[in-house]
Amino acid sequence: MSTPRVLVVDDEVDIRKLIEITLARMGVETDAAENVECARERLADEQFDLCLTDMRMPDGTGTDLVRHIQTHHPTLPVAVITAYGNTDDAVECMKLGAFDFVSKPVDIHMLRKLVESALSLESPASPRTPQPAQTALVGETAGIRQLRKTIEKLGRSQAPVYITGESGTGKELVAREIHSQGTRRHGPFVPVNCGAIPSELMESELFGHLRGSFTGATQDKEGLFQAADGGTLFLDEVADLPLHMQVKLLRAIQERSIRPVGAKAETPVDVRIVSATHHDLAERVREGVFRQDLFYRLNVIQVTVPPLRERMADIPRLANSLLAGIAERYGLSQPPTLTPDAVERLQGHSFPGNVRELDNVLERAVALTDNDRITADDLQVDPAPPASMNAGDDADGLRNELEDLERQRILEALQATRFNKTKAAERLGMSFRQLRYRTKKLGID
Ligand SMILES: Nc1ncnc2c1ncn2[C@@H]1O[C@H](COP(=O)(O)OP(=O)(O)OP(=O)(O)O)[C@@H](O)[C@H]1O
Ligand SMILES: [Mg+2]
Repeated sequence: MSTPRVLVVDDEVDIRKLIEITLARMGVETDAAENVECARERLADEQFDLCLTDMRMPDGTGTDLVRHIQTHHPTLPVAVITAYGNTDDAVECMKLGAFDFVSKPVDIHMLRKLVESALSLESPASPRTPQPAQTALVGETAGIRQLRKTIEKLGRSQAPVYITGESGTGKELVAREIHSQGTRRHGPFVPVNCGAIPSELMESELFGHLRGSFTGATQDKEGLFQAADGGTLFLDEVADLPLHMQVKLLRAIQERSIRPVGAKAETPVDVRIVSATHHDLAERVREGVFRQDLFYRLNVIQVTVPPLRERMADIPRLANSLLAGIAERYGLSQPPTLTPDAVERLQGHSFPGNVRELDNVLERAVALTDNDRITADDLQVDPAPPASMNAGDDADGLRNELEDLERQRILEALQATRFNKTKAAERLGMSFRQLRYRTKKLGID
């Protein structure tokens, strides 16, 4: 492999020198440009493996250059150098496609890491870059293909990612994929369910604590941030973070360092933040229960996982893959298969609980039949057509009739079980989620 080349764009001679010396020690060749115009020329004339650019230059900004690179040299990784405390610029650049940033004064250690991770990605000969990892994300519909492409592209970025999507669509799976397809795949992936940690323990869980810092703290304890050092921290159900933790999290993200409970000093941590929620965080911000500034930091890159009803063509593939998993859990020698009418039944269901619901439906079917072929009747899902098929007056009339009938049956079941939804759902042969969804939709209180 030839010596990697980096273009350093900065109007300050001292910074250019510092970077040049640091990179030379890593066996990396540098070339310098003192302003945006000059950088554009060099990029047009020569081949580079990485571009590092300052933000403020006499004839333009680093943002301009990032934009230029995205248009004219889209395969070239670019990172920005920002003034201390001015991470808004960094966020802006990462939204535009920069993969990372360093702040001034430039920390040599950080700089080295950044360059290493950028260049290892760009060297196909490197043993650290295996063939694209096997994807766990099943699906060939346009939405899923697009999602896979996005994940691949995000692999080189260190920017925080915010994943949205309805319950059960696969947000956690996507978070894991972002980790395992990226430069941090050799580091840990640490999932945190923000809704499951009691508010008063949250700080110690996330940042760790020193012995004696509070009653019961008999030993030093590492927090989840430290556990994720060099890897990815997945903040699941991030909307559930209490406000006092939101402030602390924001600080940790901005400073890239944390302070364990009871500690005097901060410790630097190298963690990529991926967060997810099925709530509408923007709405939470408007309601005043989620901090705008934290939302802005988390949501540098947004990834949306489409609901299952928008990718019904994937149902057979998904079902087969889920059945293989179920067979393994049940110790079956071979995964059961679906009859054509079973597939049809599934494709006629709207799946408010998305892929998780599909998994549950299949698992229940496997548990309830001795057969290795699952029929439509084994599935116990309602055969109602999806909403999009209800066009025209006739269909509307029919739908109203069906809804009336359904409302009546659900009410009967609820009354018979004294409004115990779990039991009512059981009686009706639907999942709790399904029942909840249906009652809401039918306006049953
Ligand atoms: N495209 C897919 N291919 C294969 N399995 C999938 C896919 N999408 C989701 N799954 C599986 O469906 C289940 C639910 O996915 P996951 O837990 O990631 O959903 P989620 O969006 O995080 O849900 P929630 O909002 O309830 O936390 C998991 O078992 C996951 O492996
Ligand atoms: Mg989840």
